[in-house]
Amino acid sequence: MSKIPFRNPGWAGNVGEYKLTEEQVRGIDFVGVRPLEGGHAAAASTYPFMLEAKDPGAPLFEGPYQTRFEKILTRYPTKQAALLPALNLAQEVRGHISPETMDRVAQLLELSSAYVRGVATFYTMYNKRPVGRHLVQVCTNISCNLCGAQDVLEAFLKHTNTEMGETSLDRAFTVIEAECLAGCGFPTCVQINSRYYENVTVDEVPRIVAHLRGNGDGFVPPDNRDDATHTKFAVDPPSTGPEGEE
Ligand code: FES
Repeated sequence: MSKIPFRNPGWAGNVGEYKLTEEQVRGIDFVGVRPLEGGHAAAASTYPFMLEAKDPGAPLFEGPYQTRFEKILTRYPTKQAALLPALNLAQEVRGHISPETMDRVAQLLELSSAYVRGVATFYTMYNKRPVGRHLVQVCTNISCNLCGAQDVLEAFLKHTNTEMGETSLDRAFTVIEAECLAGCGFPTCVQINSRYYENVTVDEVPRIVAHLRGNGDGFVPPDNRDDATHTKFAVDPPSTGPEGEE
C-alpha cells in the first residue's frame, strides 16, 4: 500500500493503484483517432462557452438566458460575486464583451461600469472585439512549442487566409496564440471555440479547417459590406481612454 493517500490517476503521469485505462481516465473522445469535431469541451474552456452563432446585438438576457442568469444569481451570496459567470453568459450570447455589454452587466448586477470593465479586461478569455464563428486558439507555450506549435499556428493562418488576431473575410475564423491550455501531454493543443484538438500536426490543419468550413451555418457576408472597415478585428482592443471608449 502506498504511503501516498491519494494519487492523481491523470493519464499524463502515474496511474497509481487505480489500474485505469487511458479510455477510462480521459474518455473515448480523447484517444485513438481524434474526432474531427475535437474532443469534449474541456474544463478549461467550458467558461465562457463559445458558440458558432454570435449575435452582438442580442438582448441580455432573455428567454432561457434570463432563466440561466437568474439561476446564476442564486448561487452566490452577492450580485458582485456573480460577475464572472454573468460575463461568461454575455459572451456566450454575443460572442464578445463590448464596453456596452460591460455596462449592461454592471447595470444588471448593480455594480459600477468601471468595476466591471476592470474585471472584464483582466481576463484574456473574454473577447473584447468580435471574433469569427470559429475562434482558433493555438497553444504556443513550451510543450507545444517544442513539438511544432509555431508551424501549426502558421498553417492555421495560411489555411484560414487570415492574420494573427484578425478575422477572415468570410468571418469564419479568428486565429490567435494561446498560453498553456493545460493539454501539455498532447501537443500541439488547439482550442477551437469550446473544443480541444490535441496532438495537432501541420498536416492535419487543412482537414480540420475544411471540416469547420463544412459545418458552416449558412452565413453569407452581406453584399454591401465594406471589407476595408469591417473585416479586421483585433482580439484585444487598442488602448482606450479612461472611459474605455473606442
Ligand atoms: S504547453 Fe501547450 S497545452 Fe501546455
